[in-house]
Amino acid sequence: MKHSQDLNEDVAEVLLSEDQIRVKVTELGKRISADYAGRELTLVSVLKGSLPFMADLMRQIDLPLRIDLMEVSSYGGTATESSGLVRILKDLSAPIDGRDVLLVEDIIDTGLTLNYLLRYLRGKNPRSIKVCSLLDKPARRLVEIPIDYVGFEIPDAFVVGYGLDFGEVYRNLRFVGVLRPEAYES
Ligand code: IMP
Repeated sequence: MKHSQDLNEDVAEVLLSEDQIRVKVTELGKRISADYAGRELTLVSVLKGSLPFMADLMRQIDLPLRIDLMEVSSYGGTATESSGLVRILKDLSAPIDGRDVLLVEDIIDTGLTLNYLLRYLRGKNPRSIKVCSLLDKPARRLVEIPIDYVGFEIPDAFVVGYGLDFGEVYRNLRFVGVLRPEAYES
């Protein structure tokens, strides 16, 4: 993979601007605050792609909340295709039994990662568990999973930025964009 020194040069199209993302995250935070009013929430984010979304979303939620972080890697796939085989690299650091949990994801593609994570977390006896994903690529779904809060439905394209990477690069772009084909070529 070859990326430019100026990462913006590798982007063919800006799909979601910084402003669009900010407005949507604020809106999601309001909805979540209203839906969980009077309760306490545990946000569980999945590293690394969800990091900017988690950081922005938590500051738009007006509830007492705690956060926890997991890191998973899917293996057996390729740089742009997930395999559904998930390995937990970092587990929760505190129990979630009896807690209202909101799983914060960057993108739901095939749904295989989320499906695995939901089953895993349900096994820890939370009071409730819901899912909030910034992006949803429904065209590629292999497992049907209810997503309770979705930021944007996007077309079937590989996107980078606002946490999302290609080969660990591009996570720091402030927008979500589609890569130029040249950036995929080695
Ligand atoms: P799934 O298991 O196919 O739903 O894949 C979920 C994970 O694959 C996400 O959490 C991302 O890390 C990664 N992923 C899926 N689509 C994209 C994309 O378009 N850009 C960057 N990463 C992606």
